[in-house]
Amino acid sequence: MGNLKKDEIILGIESSCDETAIAIIKNDELIANVISSQIEVHQKYGGVMPEIASRLHLENIAVVLDSALKKADIKMEDVSAIAFTRGPGLIGALHVGLQAAKTLSLIYNIPLIPVHHLAGHIYANEFVEKVEFPLLAVVVSGGNTELVYMKDHFDFDIIGETKDDAIGESFDKVARVLGLPYPGGVAIDKLSKEGKHTYKLPTPLHDDSLNVSYSGLKTAVINLIHKEEVNSNEIRVADMAKSFQDVAVNEIILRVKRASERYDFKEVVLAGGVSANSHLREEIVKLFENNDKVRVIIPPLWCTTDNAAMIAKVGTYLYKRKMFAPLSVGVDPSRKIEDYDKF
Ligand code: KG4
Repeated sequence: MGNLKKDEIILGIESSCDETAIAIIKNDELIANVISSQIEVHQKYGGVMPEIASRLHLENIAVVLDSALKKADIKMEDVSAIAFTRGPGLIGALHVGLQAAKTLSLIYNIPLIPVHHLAGHIYANEFVEKVEFPLLAVVVSGGNTELVYMKDHFDFDIIGETKDDAIGESFDKVARVLGLPYPGGVAIDKLSKEGKHTYKLPTPLHDDSLNVSYSGLKTAVINLIHKEEVNSNEIRVADMAKSFQDVAVNEIILRVKRASERYDFKEVVLAGGVSANSHLREEIVKLFENNDKVRVIIPPLWCTTDNAAMIAKVGTYLYKRKMFAPLSVGVDPSRKIEDYDKF
């Protein structure tokens, strides 16, 4: 059974980083999903410039809203609740989504539903099929790297996380030193297909926890490049990309394997921008191919990166639970997933 009754409509707003997005779900069906990406603007800086991101969200949000309402063929008066990303994310960028949500809530007297961005990435998998519990969510994005164990809906337990950089951040930083365009993960993934794992790189964490670390790996790549330059050796960019990607992905795979030895789960779901990585997708499938107790769910590429469909999807669950926030609700750039229900 779905979350929404006939003619109930959730409008989702996402503005946590460099995508201004609005999506609409009616009767549990996605009827509009508009995304205005700022990637081209940030590309010339080699990464997301927070101040520019906020300004562009401000310029784009009304246009994106108008386009989503037209696509869905509805009016604001028809909307049952507004779900928006409360955090984590860039503070200025989040504020634009929050203020748009509050303004619409006030004008049209529609309840507000704050959504945790990473819960959105996890629930994006429901565009493939309904998730089953207990599950392990492998959250790998530009700003976060977490293993989240869920016994039930909205029961989030972080059992492993990065000690420093997020995996996507390390892809982006390594890509930048290799002269590859932003977003670096896409470029490294593509180039790795032409490369060989010839460079020796260290594996950063040697404890037996479920945590990962990416800052040392990134520094090792940078140091290796400098060493090669000093010695006037040519850097084989594709080989470096492949060597880095293998180690970065293996770090996560090793922790997922460990988690499967310590926790019981029926499903593993990938979530976040880095879940688009072809090597990670292959390796996670391989890890469980002979395990008929665990099902692997991989989100379709269209909902691996930031979008508002996933925010609206979470909104449908929280709407059913009437988890509405007061108008005084604020954004929270470093929000923890366990605190999704605290206003
Ligand atoms: O989830 P997302 O859109 O934004 C955050 O919420 O952080 O993730 C963006 C991140 C970037 O770091 C980007 O380089 C990475 O996802 N990414 C990839 C791939 N596609 C995007 N990383 C590795 N391989 C890919 N194919």
